[in-house]
Amino acid sequence: MKMKCTAIVLAAGKGKRMNSDVPKQYLFLEDKPVLYYSLQVFQDSFIDEIVLVTSESDVEYCRNKIVEKYGFDKVHSIVAGGKERYHSVFAGIMAAGECDYIFIHDGARPFVTAQILQRAYECVIQHGACVVGMPSKDTVKLANEDGFASLTPDRDLVWMIQTPQVFSFSLIKRAYMSLIEEEEALVSRGIKITDDAMVVETFTDKKVKLVEGRYENIKITTPEDLKIAVTFLGKDDNSR
Ligand code: CTP
Ligand code: MG
Repeated sequence: MKMKCTAIVLAAGKGKRMNSDVPKQYLFLEDKPVLYYSLQVFQDSFIDEIVLVTSESDVEYCRNKIVEKYGFDKVHSIVAGGKERYHSVFAGIMAAGECDYIFIHDGARPFVTAQILQRAYECVIQHGACVVGMPSKDTVKLANEDGFASLTPDRDLVWMIQTPQVFSFSLIKRAYMSLIEEEEALVSRGIKITDDAMVVETFTDKKVKLVEGRYENIKITTPEDLKIAVTFLGKDDNSR
């Protein structure tokens, strides 16, 4: 039986690390905005519905210049996000209709593929919670507050986490409700929530499975990422 799948595509960030006037998800890669590319992959996939989360002031721009223009008819709502990424995800969850699985994706990751979505789908059916990532190529060190190396995790166990992050709807909704309830306590303890798996790890007993993405599934974060992205366009073998 085909499960009902909804994607939440996040585009409500300000892109501070990019240092550009226009938020990075709206910068152009060749002749289309960064956000176009992942929406096209979701549109062409088995995903049933898309919730697009953007800042209040960009809702109209997204509707006219992206969703209508490129015919993304799976986008059933465009909602305003919030200050932190997790506020935007929460807004997306609240806007999503009843479904079996939620695929949460950074709109700043244009190189997601049909195969990644398929692997994540198979994985979430088996495990109920999974996130896409790749084994780290570099050695990772944890620093102490004085800037000295304090711990070197076994590189074979280190993964760089990407999106989509995929969960059963009831699980992710429950986890995010708890997060919003306990937000103040977390903030006061200095805990920063940077992905969705962390919300599930913190507020539920569910184990989150790691599933292979691809090294090309980068997040456009700083200006040099745009140069890398340009070299991927067109010449990219997206069969993985
Ligand atoms: N995002 C969001 N709402 C926020 C913050 C982030 O929807 N309040 C989205 C971004 O638009 C992006 C994704 O989450 O698609 C990943 O976040 P990140 O790369 O951190 O983007 P920004 O927060 O925009 O960038 P920066 O952290 O450099 O300001
Ligand atoms: Mg950010």
